[in-house]
Amino acid sequence: MAVMAISLTACSRSTPSSAAPASAAASAASASNNANTAGPKPLASIQELMQSIVDPTADALWDSVSTTVTAQGEEDKRPRTPEEWRQLRHLAITLSEAGNLLAIRGRNVAHAGQQLEDHHVDATLKADDIQRRIDADPQAFAAFALALQVAAGESLAAIDKQDVEALIRAGSQLDQACEACHQRYWYPGDRVPTQ
Ligand code: HEC
Repeated sequence: MAVMAISLTACSRSTPSSAAPASAAASAASASNNANTAGPKPLASIQELMQSIVDPTADALWDSVSTTVTAQGEEDKRPRTPEEWRQLRHLAITLSEAGNLLAIRGRNVAHAGQQLEDHHVDATLKADDIQRRIDADPQAFAAFALALQVAAGESLAAIDKQDVEALIRAGSQLDQACEACHQRYWYPGDRVPTQ
């Protein structure tokens, strides 16, 4: 009975945002790269990965450091306690493995009938067009996913050193990794304003 109680406690402590499924999928990916054998089976669409994993995780990493100027002066938000650093570490691991999930071949951009964000904006491509671009050269898409993974790895390194400046630098590298892939596949017509 005591054992039961302990294991229940352990279970209830695991959060729904646990990175375990991502890690499991990632190691399955390295175990097999032949689509005909048992191996990774993409279920979520790229859109769902963006909405459920990539976007919220990156947002939480970016939000971990900020400076707000108020009438009372500057308010610096940054991770301080071991628990805050630990939470950030989970995010960086999740994002890094999301790179592997994106690199798995055969994933649909969107499920049938789903509208992409900004679908009404002229410069954005429709899901079919994006799918064709990815399928024409899956390795190129995987390279953008790897850039995301590298940036997440930089965040992880900064977190492990508890180096806030490095975390900020990794945050902008991360932003560039998102933008590079989006500009190639999602809104290629969109021009970045020159400064
Ligand atoms: C390897 C390529 C790739 C990388 C890297 C990438 N994305 Fe995406 N993302 C896409 C594609 C393709 C779409 C367009 C399809 C869609 O809307 O889901 C997209 C769409 C999105 C959307 C809109 C989802 C919707 O509801 O339609 C959000 C939000 C998003 N990405 C956030 C991010 C953030 C934040 C990052 C970086 C931390 C990032 N993405 C990195 C490929 C990528």
